[in-house]
Amino acid sequence: MPTLTQDTQLGGQELKRIVFSEADIRARTRELGAQISDAYRASDRLLVLGLLKGSFLFMADLVRAIELPLHVDFMVASSYGANKVSSGDVRLLYDAGASLKDRAVLLVEDIIDSGNTLGRLIPRLEARGPASLEVCALLHKRLTILEPEARWVGFDAPNEFLVGYGLDCAEDFRHLPYIASL
Ligand code: PRP
Repeated sequence: MPTLTQDTQLGGQELKRIVFSEADIRARTRELGAQISDAYRASDRLLVLGLLKGSFLFMADLVRAIELPLHVDFMVASSYGANKVSSGDVRLLYDAGASLKDRAVLLVEDIIDSGNTLGRLIPRLEARGPASLEVCALLHKRLTILEPEARWVGFDAPNEFLVGYGLDCAEDFRHLPYIASL
């Protein structure tokens, strides 16, 4: 069992346990990459759209596990700020430069929690006329059913406050190589 070794206390918050280890994440990302490669084999250049900031590590590992030529772009959205509960107000802080029109687009998200972020964002992206729009989320708490639902999910996640591997608590803990609960 991996142990909590680094930065276990930041900003007055303490890590409780590792929920997904570095090895768990690495193995599952490889599987997702293989499945995504199969699904898009016949498509024109896939556009992989990372939703920042939370997805920055997952995105970097996932694209390296996809064995197809692809393009990457990013969007920055935020709804939590320093809070532990979604404000419900999803702010688009940076929009992708790439056109989505007629392209196969894969949106990469770190976690689906309340579903608020994707629930707001997906219709806005659909309106740009992609040939297809699918979601790959590393974690899904299954608190909500998205319409359309994420096509690829790394792990069903417990309903705890999770940090690490991109996920933060008031910007702390994003750099951890594993996912832990607070
Ligand atoms: C987090 C996370 C997801 C979203 C999931 O982003 O990265 O994008 O919340 O929660 P939801 O399903 O309840 O909407 P946040 O707004 O905290 O910004 P960040 O990616 O910069 O951490």
